[in-house]
Amino acid sequence: MKALENKILSDGVVLEGNVLKVGSFLNQQLDVDFIMEMGEEISRIYNNDGATKILTVESSGIPIAFAAGVKIGCPVVFAKKNKSANVSGDVFCSSVYSFTHKTTNNIIVAKEFLSSDDRVIIVDDFLANGKALIGLIDIVKQAGATLIGCTCAIEKGFQHGGDELRKQGIRVESLAIVEEMNSSGIYFRCN
Ligand code: G4P
Repeated sequence: MKALENKILSDGVVLEGNVLKVGSFLNQQLDVDFIMEMGEEISRIYNNDGATKILTVESSGIPIAFAAGVKIGCPVVFAKKNKSANVSGDVFCSSVYSFTHKTTNNIIVAKEFLSSDDRVIIVDDFLANGKALIGLIDIVKQAGATLIGCTCAIEKGFQHGGDELRKQGIRVESLAIVEEMNSSGIYFRCN
């Protein structure tokens, strides 16, 4: 999505540790019009795929997932994070390790919100090592639902999580793929 690449170039800040700061439009302040444009793009990508649910994980995935849900016309389900190892109740649960934060969270979705009748698009803000997507895909499988595809706003291609999933045959269509970033610039994967 060219408009997202331009937004990253104009507003993104490259921090130590391969972190791209996009707090001005995605991670802290929300550029609501632009987020709706991203939703429109996701709707265009999955046109006619018959999605019945958008699935994301709290917190920063929620606005983009919401925009996609509005444009596609289906509900949005967000997994909740829970640090406790003990999870009980009528839930689907998967364990997700974050390389960025060096922590493990259980991500949890109540069974009533996902079923084998659902056709699911997974949406998130960042795709780095892919652990959050793997956890969400696991939850889709537990529910017996059909995974249509996964879309993250910003994929960090140099961390390879997206390509590993593509190798497994999973449809991953990120809106922008950063191939390299350093103090001299941010470079995107060519389509
Ligand atoms: P992975 O899921 O792809 O393996 O990524 P990782 O564990 O490394 O990322 C964990 C968290 O860090 C996620 O947010 C992810 O969105 C965020 N993240 C990863 N790389 C970047 C980056 O370059 N810039 C920014 N701004 N965020 C990044 P989270 O911990 O789930 O936080 P939140 O969704 O509650 O905000």
